[in-house]
Amino acid sequence: MDSYLITVRPGGWRFEAEAGQTLLAAAEAAGVNLPSSCRNGTCRTCLCRLVQGEVGYLIAWPGLSLDEKRAGDTLPCVALARSDVVLLAPSARRVDAI
Ligand code: FES
Repeated sequence: MDSYLITVRPGGWRFEAEAGQTLLAAAEAAGVNLPSSCRNGTCRTCLCRLVQGEVGYLIAWPGLSLDEKRAGDTLPCVALARSDVVLLAPSARRVDAI
C-alpha cells in the first residue's frame, strides 16, 4: 500500500499517511493533534495551509473557496495525500504518551 510522508510545521513532526487515510487521521495516529470538530469538511476548524505537496479530497466539495484552494488552504479532515506533504498548522500540538 502506498504511503506518503507528512510534515507538520512549525512543530516539525513527521509521520506517514497511508493511502485512503485522511491527514487528520494520520496525524492522530502519530500523536499529533490538529484542531478539528465536524471531521467532514464542513466546519473549517481544521483549516491549515498546504505548504508543499498535493492532496485530494474524500468529498466533492470541501468547505474551501476557489481562492482558498489557490492560496494553498486545505482541510485535513477530508484531505488525502497524493504526494509527500508539508502542512503549516501553528495550532497543532503533540500529544505525549502517558
Ligand atoms: S474538522 Fe470540520 S472541516 Fe475539518
